Amino acid sequence: MTTLILGGTGKTGRRVARQLGADARVASRTRGFDLADPATWPAALAGVTAVYLVEPNLGAGDRLPRFVAEAVSAGARRLVLLSAPRAGEAGHPLHAAEEAVRGGGAGWTILRPNWFAQNFSEGPWAVGIRDGALALPAGEGRAPFVDAEDIAEVAAAALTDDRHHGRVYELTGPRAVGFAEATALIARATGRKIDYVDVAPDAFVERQVRYGVPEPVANLLTGLLVDLRDGRGADLADGVQRALGRPPRSFEDFVASTSWPRGDETVA
Ligand SMILES: NC(=O)c1ccc[n+]([C@@H]2O[C@H](COP(=O)([O-])OP(=O)(O)OC[C@H]3O[C@@H](n4cnc5c(N)ncnc54)[C@H](OP(=O)(O)O)[C@@H]3O)[C@@H](O)[C@H]2O)c1
Repeated sequence: MTTLILGGTGKTGRRVARQLGADARVASRTRGFDLADPATWPAALAGVTAVYLVEPNLGAGDRLPRFVAEAVSAGARRLVLLSAPRAGEAGHPLHAAEEAVRGGGAGWTILRPNWFAQNFSEGPWAVGIRDGALALPAGEGRAPFVDAEDIAEVAAAALTDDRHHGRVYELTGPRAVGFAEATALIARATGRKIDYVDVAPDAFVERQVRYGVPEPVANLLTGLLVDLRDGRGADLADGVQRALGRPPRSFEDFVASTSWPRGDETVA
């Protein structure tokens, strides 16, 4: 049994690979696999029975649906897709991937996690946390951040246990947390001063585009944060409990179990 892990060095993928141990084959550009280069797909898929599917670039078009078809032709019998809230709606960038997974002819499970808690420690917000000022257009909005450890545990279960076939799991943490509270909890754990700064949505889009994020992706991510500002996206879901039979980890647990960078350390 070999499971191919797309994004296998990323926030959820590396945790899924750790859970599966010797059965995992990590795929990422640093391992000679590129979703943008179909010539690299056959070697990655050789002998694979299950695939954890991740699309790291939401502006990349239909390459993931094409990869799904190739994975099933190559013999994959289980597909687990890392999707996102509202990807069931036509027009969402991951909608076609969800449809491809459902109709691909293999067993499937779709994970729709809310914002990852690890965005604060390994993702796009980590630099702000390190520098002492996290600027986002989320106002006083709250999000039920989900721990990537929980997402990976659900993914590993779905990749190895038939009970999860045909299920869509909406994954959240146990409580919606505001950004000012989240940064305050991290500040307390690190003993450093960290401010949350509310920024205007337009300024946030401009800043992302300046840093090289494609404009449609910058607009999409900003829209999701503005939804939080407007009070949407804070609903709790029971996916972790349904999939694993236990409640999700709390944001406080995530903060306590994370080794936070010191001011002089580089953050990815
Ligand atoms: N972050 C969140 O809060 C959140 C919430 C809900 C849903 N999601 C969804 O989760 C997915 C993953 O997002 P993420 O930000 O958490 O990314 P991530 O998994 O942390 O990181 C990206 C991973 O993909 C690999 N990668 C990047 N470009 C690649 C390419 N062209 N071909 C093959 N591998 C490539 C990277 O490794 P290399 O650099 O070595 O290639 C890395 O392993 C997205 O579809 C997003 O919509 C994220």
